[in-house]
Amino acid sequence: MKNYITRDAWKIVEDGFHKEFNEITESLMSLGNGRMGQRGNFEERFSGKTLLGNYVAGVFFPDKTRVGWWKNGYPNYFAKVLNACNWTGIEVEIDGEILDLNTCTYEHFQRVLDMQRGVLERECTLTTPEGKQLKIRTRRFCHMVEDESGAISYSITPLNFDGTITLTPFLDGNIQNRDSNYNETFWNEIKKETSFAEGILVMETKPNPYGVEQYQVATGMRFDLKKNGQILDFQSLPVRDEKYVAGKVPVQLIQNEELTLFKYAVNLSSMNHTSENLIPDTKVYLNRLAEKGFEQLLEEHVAAWAAKWEQNDIQIKGDVAAQQGIRFTIFHLQQTYTGKDERLNIGPKGFTGEKYGGGTYWDTEAYCIPFYLSTSEQQVARNLLIYRYKQLGKAIENATKLGFDMGAALFPMVTMTGEECHNEWEITFEEIHRNGAIAYAIYDYVRYTGDKDYLTEYGLEVLIGISRFWKQRVNWSVQKNQYVMLGVTGPNEYENNVNNNWYTNYIAAWTLRYTLEALEYVRNQGKIEDISSKVAFDFASETAQWQHIIDNLHFPYDSERQVYLQQEGFLDKELLTVDQITSHRPINQKWSWDRILRSCFIKQADVLQGLYFFEEDFSEEEIRRNFDFYEPMTVHESSLSPCVHAILAAGLGKKEKAYEMYLRTARLDLDDYNNDTEDGLHITSMAGTWMSVVKGFAGQRVQDGLLILNPYIPEEWESYSFRLGFRGVTLTVAVSQDSVLITNPSAAGIEIVVHGQKELVAGQKAFPLKA
Ligand code: BGC
Repeated sequence: MKNYITRDAWKIVEDGFHKEFNEITESLMSLGNGRMGQRGNFEERFSGKTLLGNYVAGVFFPDKTRVGWWKNGYPNYFAKVLNACNWTGIEVEIDGEILDLNTCTYEHFQRVLDMQRGVLERECTLTTPEGKQLKIRTRRFCHMVEDESGAISYSITPLNFDGTITLTPFLDGNIQNRDSNYNETFWNEIKKETSFAEGILVMETKPNPYGVEQYQVATGMRFDLKKNGQILDFQSLPVRDEKYVAGKVPVQLIQNEELTLFKYAVNLSSMNHTSENLIPDTKVYLNRLAEKGFEQLLEEHVAAWAAKWEQNDIQIKGDVAAQQGIRFTIFHLQQTYTGKDERLNIGPKGFTGEKYGGGTYWDTEAYCIPFYLSTSEQQVARNLLIYRYKQLGKAIENATKLGFDMGAALFPMVTMTGEECHNEWEITFEEIHRNGAIAYAIYDYVRYTGDKDYLTEYGLEVLIGISRFWKQRVNWSVQKNQYVMLGVTGPNEYENNVNNNWYTNYIAAWTLRYTLEALEYVRNQGKIEDISSKVAFDFASETAQWQHIIDNLHFPYDSERQVYLQQEGFLDKELLTVDQITSHRPINQKWSWDRILRSCFIKQADVLQGLYFFEEDFSEEEIRRNFDFYEPMTVHESSLSPCVHAILAAGLGKKEKAYEMYLRTARLDLDDYNNDTEDGLHITSMAGTWMSVVKGFAGQRVQDGLLILNPYIPEEWESYSFRLGFRGVTLTVAVSQDSVLITNPSAAGIEIVVHGQKELVAGQKAFPLKA
């Protein structure tokens, strides 16, 4: 755990330069706007520890799958989100010496990510090895509205000398992915242009043999300068090199004069612009930015964030660490995915690092959908569902490659375009529960929004494809006289190739049931013929087969302990608890893989994931028994785990446990809990942090079209409040030590069930808080 970030309600603050943690700080201070994003790298040269990172949404390279032992069915490539052109760079020369922030001494240093305004700021006073003292102030943002652009204001003041300061704003496409093999690069230069105070670099991803589109990205910059706040007439000497353009600006400064450079940058990709238009569109875009100028752009950007916070904010009084943690998660989720483009999704690291290839995982459906449902326009979550709908064809192809037929669909474990990109056999072939999460997300969306048309338009087709897969993936066991599902990996990846993973079996049977319900609904709408003929659906026979599976699927159960078994044979393990292996943790870093597999220790919620999704199917006592059995064996070595435990614990009245689990998720990255924040942030699990508050402490659910709340307040907090968008209204729910105050600004009342009591809420209504 690290403890160097200053606690503040709205800001992430690094006071004093912690060079040794620079890569962590860069992750924490990442910026994005849904379309592009970047790590919080310095503008100037820094020869210390750094992971340079700039990313353009959706742009990836298919990197050949490299494994020791090829297995049939492996995907040909692994999708790699590409580290793209560095547009933030400004080389600084002081009387001919290049400024390297790593070699300076600092009298003052502060780096701040202002989450309220979405701005990264830095202020420092430093002395170079040559003894030159400088003051530097920077402000930077990725524009939330003009979302293919970003802007920088860079100010420098000589404090103890007169001299020449040369600023060279540049675009540098000589970029590698940190995880690239043999220093490979993935970009070719297509074109470059320089003119006065402007540079454009167009690059294209290298050709590939897999038929994946080669993306082109035009990165453009424009700059202007001020001295002591006055517009400066300046000379700019263009510099052109391999994948590099820059403009060199030497300026004479007298001691205490402040020079400010404004750099406007755009990243236009061929996903949104035709190849011929990339350069002309870049110029038009740059003109617009330069005409507006930095301050106006900033104003628009801050206003967009204000509107977001209006819909999203969670306020926690009495615990600044918790307040900072929750705003940090909301901020990053909102800047990673804005829901404007149904081709985009949410990588586990968002725009903050390269790990996980930037691809889409089940994390989106299982964790992120509830966040966007409550905090954003309905279209945002809908677009996440449509993303999968558009990939249904690929999911059917994927299943066909693995030997399934008749329109069975297996969605990938990780993907950019629908093609499977995961190449570990136990995950690619076996971790098929992801298919269930995609079905569940449709249910979750329809339940929350009431938008049943979605089923007719898109959802049912996806459900049929997934149900067909489950139907073929089970087999009849003569010995058990039941259906079984063999050779799977459940959410707990510390078990592979197990039979009858309870969670996977449950979500499979549930999908079949829900698909039957959806079919009934669409049939009643008189729309079934169209879909049936589109997917060659044999209504009578397929539905009968599904019903037979629903009625006869095996679910491992221990009648002595009255708990569901994670998989068959689970009880043969030595049943230890996590507190017996404290010095061995994290086991994924300390134990051999076979030892992990043989142990009872659980990486992340598995049976409990199922009880969380389907809690209405189980009694509180059942949930409690299973929680008490599995929680002590769970090591939570996936960041996705603690939130599920927090929500269940809260529902069971285990307040201390709920808070312990909440803390583990809320400050995971801020305190570098798992020693891995330098790789990037755990973006998808941040949605789990939000859920721990809203679904955990506030007990928010939706049942039969009604919003349900069962709030309590953690002892550590004085009060908390959050916003909830539900069916056209944005409610504020404020929970204090003794009451729950719900505000509905809309004149139309809304029925809400609070602590089991149904009330019409119009305006404000207070409810007593249950102990
Ligand atoms: C987890 C998966 C998750 C993936 C990406 C893994 O460590 O076990 O459930 O999908 O990370 O977040």
